[in-house]
Amino acid sequence: MNDLSGTFSMPAPAPLAPGVTLHDFAPIQESFAEALVKGLSQPSKAIPARFLYDEHGSRLFDRICELPEYYPTRTELSILRDRAAEIATVIGPHAALVEFGAGSSQKARLVLDALDVPVAYVPIDVSRAHLIQLAEEIAADHPGLEVAAVCADYTQPLELPEFTQRARRVGFFPGSTIGNLPREEARAFLSAWAGQLSGDGVMIVGVDLKKPIEIVLPAYDDAQGVTAAFSLNVLARANREAAADFDLASFRHHVTYDPASGQVAIHLESLRDQQASVAGRTFRFAKGELVHVEDSNKYAVEEFQALAREAGYTPEAVWIDPKGLFSVHALRVG
Ligand code: AVJ
Repeated sequence: MNDLSGTFSMPAPAPLAPGVTLHDFAPIQESFAEALVKGLSQPSKAIPARFLYDEHGSRLFDRICELPEYYPTRTELSILRDRAAEIATVIGPHAALVEFGAGSSQKARLVLDALDVPVAYVPIDVSRAHLIQLAEEIAADHPGLEVAAVCADYTQPLELPEFTQRARRVGFFPGSTIGNLPREEARAFLSAWAGQLSGDGVMIVGVDLKKPIEIVLPAYDDAQGVTAAFSLNVLARANREAAADFDLASFRHHVTYDPASGQVAIHLESLRDQQASVAGRTFRFAKGELVHVEDSNKYAVEEFQALAREAGYTPEAVWIDPKGLFSVHALRVG
């Protein structure tokens, strides 16, 4: 056959797997170069943490999760595995599980598999390709579950899709990703979603616990240097995508932990007086100057429960691993 009639037409969008719908809010992909120039123009230089996760950065983050020093991922998974039945009881039947960020499907699966007649799974993520892949994986293993993939920025208000059956909306925010936000923003995030999770809604949040510096620091500054490579990748990405010329060997991954506030702060430290250009602009870095790249805030159980109350929730349950490293909170709206 020699039919070339379709050669010059646009490719049809790939159809979604059965059970999956895509609700595309077409989030605007913010320019990395613009954000970088803005962040480096401030008196106290900073690069927004969301730019750490390009393809290379996401692969490095997966490696971080496997490190012996990085306890949060495996500990949270063990809690979800061991306490799935209790979590499912708190959530109750007919839930629509709304996940903020399409992470690894592993965590959502542990909850979904334990739920009593779940209605829907609703992952929300700005990365369309990753979102669809996750949605299709979950749908393939859960026939009858409505998988409604929402392509959007979950920090912005949005209207959730409707389902064919009435469902109790349950938020799911694992990974201690909430710790990336300053306390005030974490409260604002929880409070905004309290309004979206119906009257009988529940929010399940994974929160890293405050703990001794001897445990926290190595988790963010591992012996193999994977976390250092993860931080420095944002400069490599700038060189690849934002017409920058950073000398990666002249910056160092720099981590502090304040056990009182529970704040991990990750910076890139300039190892000498130097300059670098980004998208035609020149930036100077003094020897010892710090460029902020990420925070990871830890909370004691009572501190996080106080934050949740301020945001309009009633703390209902909290599950902690036997070593006291990580917590999973169930918060009831209202
Ligand atoms: C994905 C934000 C939860 O804060 O522990 C890990 C990110 N950065 N190592 C964390 C991270 C360096 C991680 N979160």
